[in-house]
Amino acid sequence: MELATTLKSQQVRNSVRDAGINPNHWYAVSWSDRLKPGQVIAVTVWQQAIAVYRDTEGNVHALEDACPHKGVALHKGLVLGQNLACRYHGWEFDSQGECAKIPYLPPSQKLPCAKARSYPICDRYNLLWIFPGDPALAETTPVPHIAEFDQPGYLMVPVTGHFKAHFSICNENSMDVFHGFLHENLQGWFDPQLVKLRETDGSVIADYQVSYRGKLAKFLGLTDQAKDTTTKIISVQYRYPHYFSNLENVSSLYLMRLPVSPTESRSFAYFFLKVRLPQWLINSARPALQHILENYVFMKFLRQDIEMMESEQQTYLKEPQRRYVEINPAIIAVQRLILRQSEQAIAPESDRSPARNKDAEVSVS
Ligand code: FES
Ligand SMILES: [Fe+2]
Repeated sequence: MELATTLKSQQVRNSVRDAGINPNHWYAVSWSDRLKPGQVIAVTVWQQAIAVYRDTEGNVHALEDACPHKGVALHKGLVLGQNLACRYHGWEFDSQGECAKIPYLPPSQKLPCAKARSYPICDRYNLLWIFPGDPALAETTPVPHIAEFDQPGYLMVPVTGHFKAHFSICNENSMDVFHGFLHENLQGWFDPQLVKLRETDGSVIADYQVSYRGKLAKFLGLTDQAKDTTTKIISVQYRYPHYFSNLENVSSLYLMRLPVSPTESRSFAYFFLKVRLPQWLINSARPALQHILENYVFMKFLRQDIEMMESEQQTYLKEPQRRYVEINPAIIAVQRLILRQSEQAIAPESDRSPARNKDAEVSVS
């Protein structure tokens, strides 16, 4: 559905700051190459503590991070073959969470019925994705498609974010191009205008016209000369629960949001920049360019954003009843989407829209 792009005063829906997630989506929880065979890590998806381990054959598994014996965190355990052994008494659990061995139980005795919850997990685009909802829906729900991954001609920069703020605050930040004011000293964008706004059951897509100028714009290939001003259309898309943006095929950003708790979120993002260089040169310069872009460009933007988002969260916590005013219709649409998805998660199966996941497969190129 097409929405009006007029900037108009509207009241923010405070309930969005307490909204839960729709767990029936894939959530990225870690970079895959950070978890070597035989290692275990602790992750949290919306207050659910999960132990993720890679077995000695290289396959990944996700179990509830609480031993069914006495509740000790399983991420403190040891990987033994394909099982995860709790560090306390050595009970072993297989990839489905079933108790597979108790080292001190005589072989003649039957294993007790002790099961840790297991979660569907998949390893794609160098990310580990967990499906915290109904496991039966995992197979039919696609992981977001990252078209540029492994495609020649792109420089890919991974960026990790950690925010002490509700995921709605983070997603509104990503969707609101009007905050270029904050990044002025970084030669960010200026004169943004919302030119098109669409909303579906699972997404909000906002096209902004934005102007760029300066050395960074030249470096990113947006202008020929640093002093020139270019105007481009950036399409920013909140395809619940993740975020994608595309700048006229010059660059794109895939930002996978991990809601940790009502006051904490993480993100795993890939920035792709189209470069007109031979592939061998991109490959050899990649580590240095990734380092420069991550540390001297993206982290600078991110630190400024984090300060604003965390301040917003703190003020909300001090006075949750206080009313706020918004004028960007894209942000009001994002809030509607978050609340709708949160309600779908608690609605009975029969009431859920069949179109719920139809937008999950996204290609922005
Ligand atoms: S608490 Fe885990 S084996 Fe005893
Ligand atoms: Fe920003």
